[in-house]
Amino acid sequence: MAVLTIRLWPDEVLRRKAEPVESVDVDVCRVLNDMAETMYRQNGIGLAAPQVGISRRLITLDVPSEEEGEPGSGLILAVNPRITARDGKTVVTEGCLSFPGLEIDITRADHVTVEYLDETGASHTRACEGLLAVCFQHEIDHLDGMVFTDRVGLVRRRLALRDYEKMRRDDA
Ligand code: NI
Repeated sequence: MAVLTIRLWPDEVLRRKAEPVESVDVDVCRVLNDMAETMYRQNGIGLAAPQVGISRRLITLDVPSEEEGEPGSGLILAVNPRITARDGKTVVTEGCLSFPGLEIDITRADHVTVEYLDETGASHTRACEGLLAVCFQHEIDHLDGMVFTDRVGLVRRRLALRDYEKMRRDDA
């Protein structure tokens, strides 16, 4: 396994629509494992392949429980994930490994149904709610060339991107 380099906004790969995976082969499993290792190393709860420069429809998630005593999602490796149903609304303060330091309140569906293949090629249909539902939506957006700043209005987007540019300059 290897830790991959995170692509930071405004890297152009983050704007590209990722290609579907035709078969879940050894190469795909290696990428998923490297993505999981990279996500954990960065203390992320989700990662999409374009964020490591790979324009393919692969995501990893490991979302903590929102209720004390409840289990978290555990590691999810998802190939060609797609949302087949959505319902309700929730506002969550989101971050993104491609925008270090930036946090934005985003409105998304509170319940989603997601279909995907796992690392063995087995098909899953999963009903998700709360933070896990939000995380799937955030990561699947990455596969469509969208980032979380696209999910707010123009004024808030400008302010968020200005804050982000300032943080990057201050880090440099
Ligand atoms: Ni992200």
